Amino acid sequence: MASVTIDPSGEYLTIINSTGRRRFHAIWLRDNASDPQTRAPENGQRLIALRDIPHDISITKTDLNGDTLDVSFAPEDKVVRFDISWLEEHAYDQAPSRPRGWVAPDIEIWDAELTAHVPTGDFETLLRGGSALLNWLSLVNRYGFGKVTHGPVKPGALFQIVDLFGYVRETNYGRHFDVRTEVNPTNLAFTGMGLQAHTDNPYRDPVPTVQILYCLESSAAGGDNMVVDGFAAALRLREENEAYFNVLANYSARFEYAGDQSVCLTSRRPMIELAPDGELIAVRFNNRSLTAITDVPFDKMSLYYAAYRRFGEIIDNQEMEVTFRLNPGEAFVVDNTRVLHARKGYSGQGSRWLQGCYADKDGLRSTYDAMRRNQNKDAADEA
Ligand code: OGA
Ligand code: ZN
Repeated sequence: MASVTIDPSGEYLTIINSTGRRRFHAIWLRDNASDPQTRAPENGQRLIALRDIPHDISITKTDLNGDTLDVSFAPEDKVVRFDISWLEEHAYDQAPSRPRGWVAPDIEIWDAELTAHVPTGDFETLLRGGSALLNWLSLVNRYGFGKVTHGPVKPGALFQIVDLFGYVRETNYGRHFDVRTEVNPTNLAFTGMGLQAHTDNPYRDPVPTVQILYCLESSAAGGDNMVVDGFAAALRLREENEAYFNVLANYSARFEYAGDQSVCLTSRRPMIELAPDGELIAVRFNNRSLTAITDVPFDKMSLYYAAYRRFGEIIDNQEMEVTFRLNPGEAFVVDNTRVLHARKGYSGQGSRWLQGCYADKDGLRSTYDAMRRNQNKDAADEA
């Protein structure tokens, strides 16, 4: 059973129950009211602006009945109903003791050991949607990477994978691009060269957040793919040498692609990106498109290069990577803000042809969250 007290100032209330003590400000509570005058019932969007809430708002009275708490506010003379369980879920009254480089609780850091249980979905099964799709999306969200197998060996099939969760992000490479050896390649990806583990297109702002590579031919020797958890690499760097981690997070690198006449793409972003509260949110790493770094002060440049070198060594370490060979009709999807991909060189007899495209992580995340919410709702309706 919870108990609720109002601070004499009226500025906040305190809820104490078996799970602890949590305080909520009057202004926060009022702003988060869900009554039909505050939020449109049809779409959940807020109807008022902060200017509509008096700056001197205070809590005058509370009335607790089971899981419902009615809170009265002055000077509006308004009563708003909250569920205690909603307040618990959205509590913000905790000590912020998270280290620089903390990661979201719903993701899991991985290394080569993931090889034994690579998140994989069967093409036709995923297309049917339902729990198989939900499960695959949850794994892609958790590991930032997933494979699809038993797809058709048909150009354009990669779009059916995008359709599972979102929309194609078109770029100067087209709605999709063909990854195979070309005579005058506009990108080193379109050669037989090995490619060091990288995130794609760090020279874009914003960067494409999801990448799909779909195999149509792979009879040439070589050309195996590797993926590396960039967050695992960044955290390992932090453990080994905090100054290395910090210098890559604190200064912007620069990336550029001007591989054909019509484009000149440039960006200025750090290799390790942290949110203001230290959350690790993105990694950018691409030896091919890194350009002259000019945002690191002279007295930090040696340290920066030592850190960049070590970060690359960790990324290249086989203990970090999952290796696989894509067969025709197989594909992989990566969170391009987190997971790096690589390819071994190939040459000689036979052919290799992948189709690639980009999509957006917010779309993937939204499909996953909406499916989850609807599943929970169905379960509640049945109960
Ligand atoms: C790419 C790429 C890898 C491959 O096109 O971005 O990294 O396996 N290709 O060819
Ligand atoms: Zn790539």
